[in-house]
Amino acid sequence: MLNFELKNPTKIIFGKGEIAKLTNEIPTDAKILMLYGGGSIMKNGVYHQVKEALKQHQVEEFGGIPANPEYEVLMDALKVIKEKNINYLLAVGGGSVIDGTKFLVAAANYNGEPWDILKQQIRTYEGDALPFATVLTLPATGSEMNSGYVISRRATGEKLSSGGPGLFPLVSILDPEVIRTIPKHQIANGIADAYTHVLEQYMTYKTAATLQDRFSESILQTLQEVAPKVLAENFDYDSAANFMWCCTMALNGLIAKGVPTDWAVHSMGHELTAQYGIDHARTLAIIAPSHYRYYFENKKEKLAQYAERVWNICEGSTEEKAIKGIEQLEQFFHNIGIKTKLSDYTEEYSETAEKVQKAFEERNWLGIGEHKALTPQDAFKIVEMSY
Ligand code: NZQ
Ligand code: ZN
Repeated sequence: MLNFELKNPTKIIFGKGEIAKLTNEIPTDAKILMLYGGGSIMKNGVYHQVKEALKQHQVEEFGGIPANPEYEVLMDALKVIKEKNINYLLAVGGGSVIDGTKFLVAAANYNGEPWDILKQQIRTYEGDALPFATVLTLPATGSEMNSGYVISRRATGEKLSSGGPGLFPLVSILDPEVIRTIPKHQIANGIADAYTHVLEQYMTYKTAATLQDRFSESILQTLQEVAPKVLAENFDYDSAANFMWCCTMALNGLIAKGVPTDWAVHSMGHELTAQYGIDHARTLAIIAPSHYRYYFENKKEKLAQYAERVWNICEGSTEEKAIKGIEQLEQFFHNIGIKTKLSDYTEEYSETAEKVQKAFEERNWLGIGEHKALTPQDAFKIVEMSY
């Protein structure tokens, strides 16, 4: 097992009706900016619950943060923060609103061009950012309990990530009731995103981190178990609750400790969102099977372990089990209604691999993945295999 440090300061308040507890979590003398997306919170009662909880607080609002949070929109929010002397941010939304908020709490105290934080990968340390809390409305990214974020800039076709230990939410409220109003295709996205988060921290090479492997496998199995129930017409609270907690646990730092991690699927996937606007989770389902086929030799031990422990495929050689593991993964995405080829999403894909290679070269990403060996040329080949 690799050496590690673990500190996750986010307080989680989990359960039905718990949004009301915001009242006691944010100091009454805070000048709050409440941030949200395109309006789903107006329709499902979450806006009302938050306002009710904060009726003794000073709250300004900024709505309209789009999916794949847009830099230009966030620059407008930054103006509001400065003009109104805001000193506490509250994100009410999914990963996009929470990520946008993380960028803003970092940018608010940064003296320089805010885009440089992303371009130059400037990390935000404890005490560097404004304090913030979240009310999660869409389980998927784990952003409610981690310190990373991803921002898009449509004008330049970029989608970049950054983070740092100063960017954990102080408190996040997770009420599974919010899942009632999420469109089914977004729930499928959440399942696929969380599932791939686990794979990025698991599908590498065999190590002695036995407990970490079993944590990962249990999250994968739980997601598989609840997927049909959260996608069914009837709302089932316990399935929703398990789904929500899986998504948080998949990317709150715990399962990454002591093990090698990959994250190349995300790096290539972000380029597909930047080029085509394809939903984040779907880009992962496009890339992951090809990535595992391309790196079959490196990853076959872990692929076979995945097939055996997660899908109960116990017959055959390591190679045979590993191949079946990839097939099961593809089938799982299909079963939740997610297609796994780039050509399922766009007809204009012929130059995609070249563009991804170029973007990697420009950023000097010359060796990523668990062995730091995936070159821009490898990315070209993996993306081409995903057509
Ligand atoms: O904008 P509104 O109207 O709120 O609608 C949203 C949005 O259209 C809707 N929605 C959210 N909660 C709802 C709801 N609709 C009905 N009822 C509810 N309760 O869902 C749509 C998608 O929301 P979004 O926040 O964009 O989705 P998600 O949570 O999947 O976030 C995606 C973003 O997170 C980044 C992605 O790259 C992408 O930009 N990621 C962030 C990570 C992190 N911070 O750790 C890791 C991930 O790998 C990912 O990269
Ligand atoms: Zn993701």
